[in-house]
Amino acid sequence: MTMARPKNTLKTAISKAPQMAVSIGKLRMANPVMVASGCFGYGEEISRFYPLSKLGAIMVKGTTLEPRPGNPPPRMAETPAGMLNAIGLQNVGVDAFLKDKLPFLRKAGVPCVVNINGKTVDEYAELARRLEGVPGIGALEVNISCPNVKEGGIEFGSTVEGAVRVVSAVRKATAQTLITKLSPNVTDVRSIARACVDSGSDALSAINTVVGMAIDARTRRPMLRNVTGGLSGPAVKPIGLRVIYQVAQAVKVPLVGMGGVVTGEDAAEYLLAGATAVAVGTANYLEPQAALKVVQGLEAYLKSQKVADVHEIIGGLRVGPPKA
Ligand SMILES: Cc1cc2nc3c(=O)[nH]c(=O)nc-3n(C[C@H](O)[C@H](O)[C@H](O)COP(=O)(O)O)c2cc1C
Repeated sequence: MTMARPKNTLKTAISKAPQMAVSIGKLRMANPVMVASGCFGYGEEISRFYPLSKLGAIMVKGTTLEPRPGNPPPRMAETPAGMLNAIGLQNVGVDAFLKDKLPFLRKAGVPCVVNINGKTVDEYAELARRLEGVPGIGALEVNISCPNVKEGGIEFGSTVEGAVRVVSAVRKATAQTLITKLSPNVTDVRSIARACVDSGSDALSAINTVVGMAIDARTRRPMLRNVTGGLSGPAVKPIGLRVIYQVAQAVKVPLVGMGGVVTGEDAAEYLLAGATAVAVGTANYLEPQAALKVVQGLEAYLKSQKVADVHEIIGGLRVGPPKA
């Protein structure tokens, strides 16, 4: 009796790993999977679970000129298929970031993207100057879309004029790669995307959280002390995909897609919609290995689709009736 060899075993065993490296401006990444700002701290805790160099890049916690305590608690609430947060940009401030946090990330061998936030246009520009030419910083993510602060944040990202003022000032202040983070809480995201690119942004990221609220009917109180917060997680993925798809039609710069990425296929969906990279946010709170699993899952997806280079699927969405 002869043993039949399972079909394709040999082919699978020798098939080459797909090429996963991508670039966004001067930021070179080993793969397209980043972690989203505010959902990974500065990487120290999660580095106990896997080498951070397995990731494309780390977008660190929203950084401001001065340290901030953030909003009073409760400031997180679980919702169906997602969560609400109103952290309010709690962070150590730019000086402590440079002194105490960045050296760790440099040693970890992973590029870092600093998410910058100002109460005024001048504060954004000052942050960009402080971070100019610092080794280990691959890019700045200009956050004009935080829904949880009274001054700055979404105030700039919800109008073309506000976006132009911030991005032009930051562009003048630095030669670093700029990724401007867009809000889904606007009527026409395409016009804001175009304004950011025309003002000198090298790339765009989307989406920040979707403004929402949750109520405890028994106590008749809002779940968050801030009353409203930002919705994230799988519940927002359809909104993120729509925003990336629309923005990809409007501008030609690289995009970072985020909102509900949990699996490799979620990442592939964002790439098909037009993103060059993705960022994993809320999923990190569910499972420390979440982002690593997205890297592995995306690689498995590319292999299963017989794609040799990840660039082949970027913007590769098949729209229109299926071919017979
Ligand atoms: C707890 C928490 C804190 C966040 N903090 C920031 C922040 O400081 N800066 C920022 O640009 N986005 C922040 N975000 C938004 C995420 O970076 C991301 O854009 C959003 O959560 C959508 O991705 P996700 O569904 O994978 O979480 C935060 C999100 C959460 C859940």
